[in-house]
Amino acid sequence: MDLPLDITTIKGFLADDEAQALYSAAQAASATGPVLEIGSYCGKSTVVLGAACQLNNSVLYAVDHHRGSEEHQKGEFFHDPDLYDAAEEQFDSFREFRKNIARAGLHDTVVPLVTGSDVASRCWNTPLAMVFIDGGHSLEAALTDYRCWASHIVRGGVLAIHDIFEKPEEGGQAPLAIYQLALASGLFEAPERVNSLVLLRRC
Ligand SMILES: C[S@@+](CC[C@H](N)C(=O)[O-])C[C@H]1O[C@@H](n2cnc3c(N)ncnc32)[C@H](O)[C@@H]1O
Repeated sequence: MDLPLDITTIKGFLADDEAQALYSAAQAASATGPVLEIGSYCGKSTVVLGAACQLNNSVLYAVDHHRGSEEHQKGEFFHDPDLYDAAEEQFDSFREFRKNIARAGLHDTVVPLVTGSDVASRCWNTPLAMVFIDGGHSLEAALTDYRCWASHIVRGGVLAIHDIFEKPEEGGQAPLAIYQLALASGLFEAPERVNSLVLLRRC
């Protein structure tokens, strides 16, 4: 993995082995078309996917409203006070995201879509070589992400889903639910598992 920046310096939620697997998948996929992620936060996964896309002169669409998921809100377990805009009285990861994309030199590759996943998808018409789902982890949010974006993946393309936990005590069950939905649809095959990340191939 050849990254322009040490990703341990970026706030976020991605293990090293997951980053490596995403990078390899995106490097292969982006040779055939654009990649899209849902859930960028401060840009950790964005830098990994973006660096792979840059090698192929491809594009990474980075969808995030930057208002945080349920668990990032004030008083919640994963709240980071550095990412709270006191004047606006709301969470805001976009400033940090932009800083990290600039540090990584990925302006020519990363296209931020600062809005909800459902809104971004409304008039979407571009086939995607890879989709990485790491947005909201409520069942409603995860189902929306799957339903809005999985159908845009080309045959042979990749669907990656983060934070798969078989046991409820290890983590939320919504990503697992959409992973099972993807498998049951018959549209995806050859699941590969790396830590809490799964990668599926569109048949
Ligand atoms: C777990 S974090 C993403 C972590 C990131 N991939 C990383 O590598 O660190 C989830 C992100 O999803 C975003 N998010 C949650 N619900 C969303 C929605 N409906 N549409 C767009 N973004 C959403 C949040 O703002 C948050 O930044």
